[in-house]
Amino acid sequence: MFIESFRVESPNVKYTDEYIESSYDYATTELSHENRRGAYEWIVKPASVKYHFRTSRRIPKLGVMLVGWGGNNGSTLTAGVIANREGISWVTKDGVQQANYFGSLTQASTCRVGSFQGEEVYAPFKSLLPMVDPNDIVFGGWDINGANLADAMSRAKVLDIDLQKQLRPLMEQMVPLPGIYDPDFIAANQEERANNIIKGTKKEQLFKIVADIREFKAKSNVDQVVVLWTANTERYSDVIVGLNDTKDNLFKSLDRGESEISPSTLYAMACIHEKVPFINGSPQNTFVPGVIEYAILEDSLIGGDDFKSGQTKMKSVLVDFLVGAGIKPTSIVSYNHLGNNDGMNLSAPQTFRSKEISKSNVVDDMVASNAILYKQGEHPDHVVVIKYVPYVGDSKRAMDEYTSEIFMGGKNTIVMHNTCEDSLLAAPLILDLVILAELLTRIQMKQDQEDKFHSFHPVASLLSYLTKAPLVPPGTPVINALAKQRAMLENVFRACVGLSPENNMLMEYK
Ligand code: NAI
Repeated sequence: MFIESFRVESPNVKYTDEYIESSYDYATTELSHENRRGAYEWIVKPASVKYHFRTSRRIPKLGVMLVGWGGNNGSTLTAGVIANREGISWVTKDGVQQANYFGSLTQASTCRVGSFQGEEVYAPFKSLLPMVDPNDIVFGGWDINGANLADAMSRAKVLDIDLQKQLRPLMEQMVPLPGIYDPDFIAANQEERANNIIKGTKKEQLFKIVADIREFKAKSNVDQVVVLWTANTERYSDVIVGLNDTKDNLFKSLDRGESEISPSTLYAMACIHEKVPFINGSPQNTFVPGVIEYAILEDSLIGGDDFKSGQTKMKSVLVDFLVGAGIKPTSIVSYNHLGNNDGMNLSAPQTFRSKEISKSNVVDDMVASNAILYKQGEHPDHVVVIKYVPYVGDSKRAMDEYTSEIFMGGKNTIVMHNTCEDSLLAAPLILDLVILAELLTRIQMKQDQEDKFHSFHPVASLLSYLTKAPLVPPGTPVINALAKQRAMLENVFRACVGLSPENNMLMEYK
């Protein structure tokens, strides 16, 4: 059974005009160990911690500025949102297609809210808390290429031509602002694209981005802006003591115009300066330690890294399933080939290396969770290959082979082939990232004994579900398993409306 929305009635929840307030008992465990008669014994004590959540019900008018707006993802997302907003349908060889938000966690997935007369009842994920409607988002942003969004959409070759024709007049006037271009950070093959660039020193470039954000906010009449990097993958920046290891050193380096400060780091710093959430959808280390320190000091939300759209998403499901089933993956080999501009940029070794790093750590937490299968320090062989094949365009191919050890020395090999337009997978994730980032800025929390409400930690680990290499606060465990990431997000939101976590016990039926 499906319901559109619901209201929670409970002594622990209060709806005012301004807020949804909830008190919540967080059930956890405390661990300790004792040495008894020479033997180690672990003690686990169930514990309960009282939290209070307060979510503002005032949904702002949201502006989203994309870095790399004219790229495949940027143009596909913009086109998709306009098509949804305008209720556009188009003819394909399979019939008439309506615009939709398939692939978006917030817009197209549901949560179980309970049972009614023996039937399971589900509501949209977006009904858990008040969220921005994607159709109301105003888009803008930067690109080092000056093509308008209609031309960018046709260059991307992602959407059906009948749809493109209808969208063209609505997108022609959208022109990206000049972007920060540094050829040292992306592949040399991107040079001829760079015809729309900000001049000046690194510091001047940063403050141009600040001015752009302010101007966009004023001109488009939005209450809040979120910025998201969906531009080319950069190479890693070197993290060097004295250069970018602390906030102060980073700012001193900015004054000196140090060449090792990447464009993405400049955009991130500009956003933190403006207290505008910044999300990194690519794999590079935009968030060098100095940026993370700056974001924490300013309490300005940052999230990343690298959209988790296809192959890695499957991996974070499949390896979780295998290890959770007591099966031991010993070799994971992933090939990709793609022919879009992202693929061309990744054909340079330095940018490929960023992607390789972000794709490679994804099984770590699952391997570490099972010492019955893996000895200390043991890890499956894990290889990632990416090749540029222009003919396939945005239709990325991902081929994976998982070999595992099973019962009694047997071997099991699973092979997967995955084909689809990469940007059609990434665009809904971008939507979720910006909608959730905005929502996270409206949620305040405190433990019972704390005097004041405060935001979640500015390093937004709650966005992990959407990213390949989740950025988490220093000293926090990284969770890659997809189901756990989704449960974290859903259960935190449920707590904000006073509902207990989804425990799947279904005691009603036992
Ligand atoms: P794209 O190459 O089509 O678009 C990137 C755009 O960024 C281009 O229009 C380029 O001109 C622009 N650009 C480059 N440097 C810039 C800068 N410093 N400032 C402003 N604009 C700049 O790539 P696509 O396919 O849209 O992907 C974007 C990013 O998302 C890539 O880094 C890719 O690795 C990442 N990504 C994409 C996924 C997908 O499924 N499509 C999944 C995971 C990550």
